[in-house]
Amino acid sequence: MWKDLEHSEGGGEPLSGAWTDGEHPKVILAEMASRPALAGHVIAFANEKGGVGKSTLAFHCAVALAHAGHRVIALDLDWRQSTLDRSLSFREGTARVLGAALPMPAHAVLTKPCTAQLYQEIARLDARADYIVLDAPGADCPIFRRAVAMADTLVTPINASFIDLQVLGQIDPITGRPGQSSCFGAMVAGLRRERHRSGFGPIDWLVAKNRVRQTERRQIGRIDTALATLAEQQDFRIGRGLTERVAYRELLQFGLTHLDLPLLPENARANKSTLTEIDGLLKQLALDGPGALCVSTAAPQVRSSPRVRAAYREALAAAL
Ligand SMILES: Nc1ncnc2c1ncn2[C@@H]1O[C@H](COP(=O)(O)OP(=O)(O)O)[C@@H](O)[C@H]1O
Ligand SMILES: [Mg+2]
Repeated sequence: MWKDLEHSEGGGEPLSGAWTDGEHPKVILAEMASRPALAGHVIAFANEKGGVGKSTLAFHCAVALAHAGHRVIALDLDWRQSTLDRSLSFREGTARVLGAALPMPAHAVLTKPCTAQLYQEIARLDARADYIVLDAPGADCPIFRRAVAMADTLVTPINASFIDLQVLGQIDPITGRPGQSSCFGAMVAGLRRERHRSGFGPIDWLVAKNRVRQTERRQIGRIDTALATLAEQQDFRIGRGLTERVAYRELLQFGLTHLDLPLLPENARANKSTLTEIDGLLKQLALDGPGALCVSTAAPQVRSSPRVRAAYREALAAAL
């Protein structure tokens, strides 16, 4: 899977060795090496573009791993939006209001997006977690680069459009020929190269098409061809995210996924194809390690009045 990128040219590092695009990978990796090694497998969701579904996929992935019986930490590195952290707080609220036994990733948001707080929060939440899910902000910044550098598995959701592909690298929409890597593509290449030199394991990079609509079938063929060219050039795997469904974003406000519906009192029936998609997302990550499916979680004590519970159920039913 891992190719030696030692001699690749990229936007950030010409063959002369000078790094022209911000903080040097050597600096980031040296800092990483000075920290205690992490026990858990790091899965980072990162793309310099916003609104592509990083937080949605990070949330589904963290919850699905918790459902599979893993100890999971979910860290939101985007404190301005805090989508992942907020969704997991909503989840705790839903569990409390309905008395539902929902598997729960430990979670936090970095209020100071720096390496010290990142490692401190991992140690505080669960130093022995099996998986550490990082949800990066949608722009290049020091914590964004650290999330990529720390990733054992890097997931980059993209929407299926040529403009989104430009985040990875230039591609001629007429001839389909690839040009230079973009800033993000070159940054990932630089960090992979430096991880290799510093003795860290490879980054398994999955670029996942997210929010694809049924009606896009015709256009998607051209995108797939272009993506395959970039995958070859930049050494990533092509994956599927979640298709465009209103239910994904509606359930997020309750901190729920379709995996949770059977665990709710008076549960709604989960949509089978949605469950297959979430399961597929996890399978594509090709993670190994311990995992007892359908772990049982203690139901929290219900601390809400019947009136609040009824209103909550009504809102949830409207969302489904
Ligand atoms: N597969 C999907 N189906 C429907 N809506 C989605 C899907 N993925 C993401 N969204 C919605 O798209 C918006 C942006 O998603 P988000 O995960 O916040 O992106 P990012 O973290 O990359 O900025 C949100 O409103 C989210 O609910
Ligand atoms: Mg986000």
